[in-house]
Amino acid sequence: MLTTPALANLSVTGHPLVQHKLSILRDRATPTKIFKELVEEIAMLMAYEATSDLALEPVSVETPLERMTAQRVSGKKLTLVPILRAGLGMVDGVLRLVPSARVGHIGLYRDHLTLEPVDYYFRVPGDAAERQFFVLDPMLATGGSAVAAVDSLKRAGATRIRFLCLVAAPAGVQRMMTAHPDVRIYAAALDRELNAQGYILPGLGDAGDRIFGTRPDS
Ligand code: PRP
Ligand code: URA
Repeated sequence: MLTTPALANLSVTGHPLVQHKLSILRDRATPTKIFKELVEEIAMLMAYEATSDLALEPVSVETPLERMTAQRVSGKKLTLVPILRAGLGMVDGVLRLVPSARVGHIGLYRDHLTLEPVDYYFRVPGDAAERQFFVLDPMLATGGSAVAAVDSLKRAGATRIRFLCLVAAPAGVQRMMTAHPDVRIYAAALDRELNAQGYILPGLGDAGDRIFGTRPDS
């Protein structure tokens, strides 16, 4: 994982497989089916890195030969929280790695004029204070959606939250660091900037539309 001193809350994966897959994802010619598959694959690889320091606890296991003390992830099941809609595209990839994870949902969309998030749905497990949460959203642009999602999770009692995205913009990382310095961000890339419409440059376009094949003009 690569870190930048100015954005201390951000870890960017340098894994060659992630970078290779991301280059295909960015290509405007990549069709919806491949795009969706790549989002899942990258999410799985990123989850591998974002879970590398989970706490373990000893358990006694009887192998076919003898009893031993093995290690298991301690605590309650991990909880994934995709931000609707585009975050849904990352869920199956992470579940391939952590099949018993719980899945909450946060419904937010970004108003096209103000660029501020509008929330419409929230549902997570009740015992939020005891769980490790992974918020999933491919894009961290202005950071408005990510900050609002974490605000809602904290109101529900969550204290251990990580944010997984594919492409982050410096402005979004900065906004999250100011609002929620305790939330580590894992990204596959830190891009250059936002355009006037709040899209990440060079980015990959509208992630939700590309995952679900809903280009406004289609
Ligand atoms: C996209 C993306 C993030 C948000 C990022 O969602 O999936 O949720 O924008 O932008 P921000 O950092 O400036 O808030 P969008 O609002 O397009 O909704 P969708 O997932 O339903 O397409
Ligand atoms: N949301 C997206 O889907 N893409 C961007 O570049 C910015 C916000």
